[in-house]
Amino acid sequence: MKSLRTGFFVGVLYIIAHTTYAQQAGQGNFNTFCAVCHSISKGKLIGPDLADVHLRRSDAWLLEFITSSQTMINKGDADAVALFNEYNKTLMPDAPYSADQIKDIINYIKSKSPSYVATTETTIASEPVEPAEPVRSVNEATEEEIQFGELLFTGNTRLAAKGPSCMSCHHVKNNRLVGGGLLAKDLTDAYSRMDEAGIKAILTAPPFPAMREAYQYNSISEDEAYALTAFLKYADEEQYGQTPRDWQQYFLAAGGASFLLLLGVFSLVWSKRKKNAVNKKIFDRQVYS
Ligand code: HEC
Ligand code: HEC
Repeated sequence: MKSLRTGFFVGVLYIIAHTTYAQQAGQGNFNTFCAVCHSISKGKLIGPDLADVHLRRSDAWLLEFITSSQTMINKGDADAVALFNEYNKTLMPDAPYSADQIKDIINYIKSKSPSYVATTETTIASEPVEPAEPVRSVNEATEEEIQFGELLFTGNTRLAAKGPSCMSCHHVKNNRLVGGGLLAKDLTDAYSRMDEAGIKAILTAPPFPAMREAYQYNSISEDEAYALTAFLKYADEEQYGQTPRDWQQYFLAAGGASFLLLLGVFSLVWSKRKKNAVNKKIFDRQVYS
């Protein structure tokens, strides 16, 4: 009788220990790989908020999607395709985990979801909410910081940890840059698509295999990530005045002769270090006269 009871307790202990272990593993993997793009109850990041995702999708669907979302999308799964389109065809990388590890992650997401928390609230005290660290927004970036970001992007200034320049894989449309890699996405409008937090998160812990490989052992520092994000914001906002074709149109409109005249005016104005607005006034006068 006694040994039976001991056995029972050991069994219960084992189950508790095992569950806790699995949940911790799920939490760890979620934080290292998924949290860059997903929150649970803290709103949309690059991907959807995963709170209560198990109420809208089956466990089998979740396992398959997290294992390889692109495989599912290519097979034509209606829900997966709809979601992919809703998120502007943003690629979710395949999880580098076994099926069991992914199940642990799913359980962790469930355990953090409002529906689960509501049913257990009475027994489990809710965790204290960490106060958000004050982060300096890139809206406050100085021209020097934007320029530093540009130099890092092009590789004219090397990243402190000697990782490859962004331009070796990416391109940004901007008069100040020439060329750029075509291996990965054009980043001209990356800032509008994923915002400050998204870009910084990608730079601190790149979720894409090629990029993770490139910066795994030479990670990008916080200051560098800040400058790069500031530069991408600048490039995004300036993109419409930046295509070489625009200059060609001005050129045609102004005509060859007045272009030469303009060149003179420009160099005069620039030598006096006047700002854009002055340039534009003189320029417009020339065009319409
Ligand atoms: C690089 C960003 C990124 C990473 C990393 C990422 N996801 Fe996603 N996830 C997305 C995007 C974007 C979507 C929307 C669908 C799409 O575009 O393919 C999505 C969709 C989902 C969905 C479907 C949500 C719904 O509303 O049905 C689940 C579940 C999910 N992700 C879980 C995970 C898990 C778990 C991990 C970590 C193992 C992870 N994701 C890692 C970007 C990411
Ligand atoms: C070795 C190649 C490589 C290098 C170097 C690289 N990236 Fe990437 N990056 C990728 C790949 C691959 C993706 C996944 C999306 C794709 O296929 O374009 C990506 C995605 C991104 C995204 C998300 C794009 C989107 O719209 O979904 C951002 C932002 C980004 N990179 C910024 C940078 C910055 C800034 C640097 C320089 C510090 C950098 N990358 C260096 C390969 C690279």
